Amino acid sequence: MKVELIPLQIHGDERGSLVSLERNSNIPFDIRRVYYIFDTENGVTRGYHAHKKLMQMAIVLKGSCDFILDDGNERISITLNNPAQGLLINSFIWREMKNFTPDCVLMILADNEYDESDYIRDYDQFRSMAK
Ligand code: TYD
Repeated sequence: MKVELIPLQIHGDERGSLVSLERNSNIPFDIRRVYYIFDTENGVTRGYHAHKKLMQMAIVLKGSCDFILDDGNERISITLNNPAQGLLINSFIWREMKNFTPDCVLMILADNEYDESDYIRDYDQFRSMAK
């Protein structure tokens, strides 16, 4: 599946921890948009879409949530609960996010601006396009 968990180096010292996100270093694309999801209500599931072109990196800055990832052939679940870990999600991966802890702050880096025409929001359409 075209997803990858990327370890992010922690620059730690006696003061605490710092992670740097840098294009072409630990982020394998040009970052053109950043958004974050927080204060997610109990029981909420988000996502339910794939992208035709967009590449994204998901990092949980605090708390935890689960990603369900589906390439049309297999479906896997990954728990993100570590701000030193990035989940790289390529195009044509269906994603659902759930089990957000109340303190979860989920940050997403993307290689393009928001573009509704890049979304595939119908799972059956996604399955037929992913083949
Ligand atoms: P939505 O696509 O439903 O989020 P998710 O896939 O996480 O469930 O987006 C929620 C709203 O935010 C929707 O009205 C579109 C808007 N939005 C932007 O304006 N810019 C963005 O970069 C994103 C991701 C969403």
